[in-house]
Amino acid sequence: MEIIIRPTAAEASSLAARIIAKHLREKPKSVLGLATGGTPLPLYRTLIAMDLDWSEVITFNLDEYIGLPREHPQTYHSFMWENLFRHTNIRPENVHIPDGNAADIPAHCAEYEERIRNAGGIDIQLLGIGTDGHIGFNEPTSSLASRTRIKTLTRQTCADNARFFGSEEKVPKHVITMGIGTIMEARMNLLLAFGENKAAAIAGAVEGPISSINPASILQMHPVAKACIDDAAASALERANYFRWVHDNKPDWQKI
Ligand code: PGA
Repeated sequence: MEIIIRPTAAEASSLAARIIAKHLREKPKSVLGLATGGTPLPLYRTLIAMDLDWSEVITFNLDEYIGLPREHPQTYHSFMWENLFRHTNIRPENVHIPDGNAADIPAHCAEYEERIRNAGGIDIQLLGIGTDGHIGFNEPTSSLASRTRIKTLTRQTCADNARFFGSEEKVPKHVITMGIGTIMEARMNLLLAFGENKAAAIAGAVEGPISSINPASILQMHPVAKACIDDAAASALERANYFRWVHDNKPDWQKI
């Protein structure tokens, strides 16, 4: 994994935005895997300000709550349209978000996987990380080979997301999420993490053993996984200074 530590979330987000923007300019028909939550918001704001051409871009979101009406403000459908898509020229038919109200959820999950394959696979998958190490909504002990499916959230994730719903009880307990096997097939994984409350999860993912107890640790097995994190999220990394050293000494040809 390439660990890029910047002093602030704004600086780490701007670097991630440059990685995505470069890709979109080189390949207008890019397939992006997108994430929700508090973490990607500064990145989305930066991408919007860059005024990129999204007319041929295809997107697949990582996950969605089960059972919330689609127009509920806290669905990831609402989140994505509000915080990114409506500010771009993306074509609605190129946007894919799991349907948390599908009548046959297992069939819908299989179809989601097929759509990703038919689009040619994901070029860049954006990821946040839960305080428990989850990626997508693959909670600890998720199969490292899992595909898109239903998951039950942990109490910790419900508590973490209570801020969006007003109380923990209102957070849906069930979700559809791309699996860890699905995420691992993306050609690049780009993980963002900001704040001290992510420091333990980041240390486990980067310096701990590969284990389903910290699902993000599977990224150690991915050939092109980059983590753009701020100083606070890096604060429990034993090798933080090594990662800073690597970044500061990158040959020009490896820079964005
Ligand atoms: P957050 O969530 O960005 O709201 O912290 C991250 C995640 O759960 O993956």
